[in-house]
Amino acid sequence: MPVVSAKKMLVDAATHGYSVGAFNVTNIIQMEAVIETAVARRTPVIVQTSVTPTKFLHPEVLVAAYRALAQKAPVPVCLHLDHCTDADYCRHCASLGYTNVMFDGSKLDFEENVRVTREVADFCHGLGDVTVEGELGTVSGVEDQVRVAETEAELCDPARSLEFVQRSGVDLFAPAIGTAHGVYTTENPKIDFDRFEKIQRIVNGQTVKAPLIVHGGTGLKPEVVRRLVALGGAKFNVSTDLKYALIDATYDYITSHRNEYNPGKIDIAARQAVIERVNCWMDLLGCEGKA
Ligand code: 13P
Repeated sequence: MPVVSAKKMLVDAATHGYSVGAFNVTNIIQMEAVIETAVARRTPVIVQTSVTPTKFLHPEVLVAAYRALAQKAPVPVCLHLDHCTDADYCRHCASLGYTNVMFDGSKLDFEENVRVTREVADFCHGLGDVTVEGELGTVSGVEDQVRVAETEAELCDPARSLEFVQRSGVDLFAPAIGTAHGVYTTENPKIDFDRFEKIQRIVNGQTVKAPLIVHGGTGLKPEVVRRLVALGGAKFNVSTDLKYALIDATYDYITSHRNEYNPGKIDIAARQAVIERVNCWMDLLGCEGKA
């Protein structure tokens, strides 16, 4: 399948009431596991990398691995740069072959967020089919270099959402609605469903202009995930869950095979754990068979 940008993929999801899993990976084993699972479930999928692992592994290497895996996958696969606060680095990764980038201007004031997001969007659109995600409001918790205290988190103002989408030129829109990055500190986090529904109506009521993105997937109860999908969440971001799967499986394998020195077997155990978690998410998102 030729590589694709996220917008077309997600307009389809928003129109047909399902969500595409967007999984943060920190190495090639996870990337391969996510794509392999998408192929088995016949679903579109987004592989995404935060800035630190992108710099560590080098974007050129990640793009090459992505292209090799995505081109032979019979399902659409995107490569997304997640939560990048550096407009130059967004442009750099887009030029190298990321199909989608998120400029995270959520800590900037509204006008500055619009201005810089617009610059990134204009540049990416000039490259061809590279699409851009923007965020309004702030998602609490820690996602790589972006840290937001609970007290500092600010929900997206629905009244400004359409203005943000139109003026910034984003293809995908991530409104802060009370979800958080990392592990939830409370059993029942307060998710503002009404706000999400209102934003969906304002932004995508007539035609889908900018599919809505849900951040902070890890730890949400299945009924919460299903409700957000039904309300229009077209891309569901999951990161911490896969990190736990990878690290726990690696730890368990090593502790139960303390005298074995075969990295390939550790990789197989880690890969299997990631596949299991990705399968659970795909069950919830309703994306099976949509490719
Ligand atoms: P979690 O780490 O809570 O799954 O959040 C992922 C995310 O939103 C990445 O942008």
